Amino acid sequence: MTAVSPTTQLGTAQLTSPALPLATRTSGLVGSIIDSSTSLLESLGHPVINFAMGSPAPEAIDSADLADVASGLFTRGRTDLYGYAASEGDFALRTLLMDMLHQTDPDDSPDPAGIVITAGGMQGLDIAGKLFIEPGSLVVVESPTYTNGSAVALSYQARLLEIGMDDDGMDVDALEREIDRIGETPRMIYTVPTFQNPSGTTLSVERRRRLIELARRWGSVIVEDDPYGLLGFAGQRVPSIRSLSGRDPLVFTVRTFSKIMAPGLRVGWVDCDPSLRDLIIAAKQALDTCTNFPMQKLVAGYLSEGFMPGHLESLRSQYRSRKEAMCAALSHHLGDVAHWTDPEGGFFIWVTFDDPRVDAEELFRAGLDAGVAFIPGSAFSPTGRFGNSMRLCFASQSLADIEEGVARLGAAYRNLCAEES
Ligand SMILES: Cc1ncc(COP(=O)(O)O)c(C=O)c1O
Repeated sequence: MTAVSPTTQLGTAQLTSPALPLATRTSGLVGSIIDSSTSLLESLGHPVINFAMGSPAPEAIDSADLADVASGLFTRGRTDLYGYAASEGDFALRTLLMDMLHQTDPDDSPDPAGIVITAGGMQGLDIAGKLFIEPGSLVVVESPTYTNGSAVALSYQARLLEIGMDDDGMDVDALEREIDRIGETPRMIYTVPTFQNPSGTTLSVERRRRLIELARRWGSVIVEDDPYGLLGFAGQRVPSIRSLSGRDPLVFTVRTFSKIMAPGLRVGWVDCDPSLRDLIIAAKQALDTCTNFPMQKLVAGYLSEGFMPGHLESLRSQYRSRKEAMCAALSHHLGDVAHWTDPEGGFFIWVTFDDPRVDAEELFRAGLDAGVAFIPGSAFSPTGRFGNSMRLCFASQSLADIEEGVARLGAAYRNLCAEES
């Protein structure tokens, strides 16, 4: 058997192969530090409390109901589930998804012709990049931004413009000033408006409206990346940019079952203007023909059995307790040296040390030795900002491990300070 070497450090891709005629665009393939952390943690010889990956906790996977649905579906002799599916997605899944969207957002009414099933949210982002980004296009991203989203834009050779955030999400006034200053309008505005990855903050409704106005003025596409919108702890729904815009063709929304069911399913969807449907189908046909058919059927079976509303309720209450446990642990172990966001939903807390000289990458290495992992803040900025910040995912760990992991982080931080003094 050939040994496979794991990724041994947390870094972005260093793809240099001078002997091969690589396309220019490969220089934009930067990869994702977040995704590389999975391989890195697997290669360590000791168990680690993982606040790094944005993955649902094992207890948050409804394995019992999924197993029942699967055993009803994947029966001996049944072969129709193993063929190709329609490129736009299985008809039954799309119909059930429309019902789910109607129940979760009664004020919004997506057009079924604008719903295309994708291989997770990442494929939706990639298709948006393929459709709208030219080499050299200016793409606005939040600062901090979701690393994989900015990586998609870079893979299509975009130039990125980072716009700062506060408690109400992206600073839309700063965006307008910056665009006026540079005198170039963006081709795309990429945002994770609700319970943002990595900061946990939510773009206010007022700013959503301003962003739509600006996009219309500039002719920019807004890519609204929304994996966490159904995970508001109080069951609250913030209206999506797509619905607030009256379903303006300029708004392209990317969603996924990864955080509300399971990321390994790799099933998501885009909700966009029906005029884009044929192009998206053509893009998918050149990518993967169709999304994994058995997994689409599993999701469809889960929805048709009516498990989703109860499951979402249970997730919201589990995640609220985990978030509260993490905030309490942070107050206890790092309260005198750092501050953090207090999200009302989603998966992430963004922690910033008061001292700008704290190096979160150094703390990351010390944390691994101590058996705890997170993602350093600089991973969420294409220009390496946020050196003294870190993203912690509270969704993956038990209450006991949240307390233990944050205690380890606090101890690792104090050890580093002691070594340096
Ligand atoms: C903001 C955001 N967009 C997209 C994704 C990718 O979703 P998927 O795993 O469905 O591809 C994630 C996953 O972490 C995310 O947080």
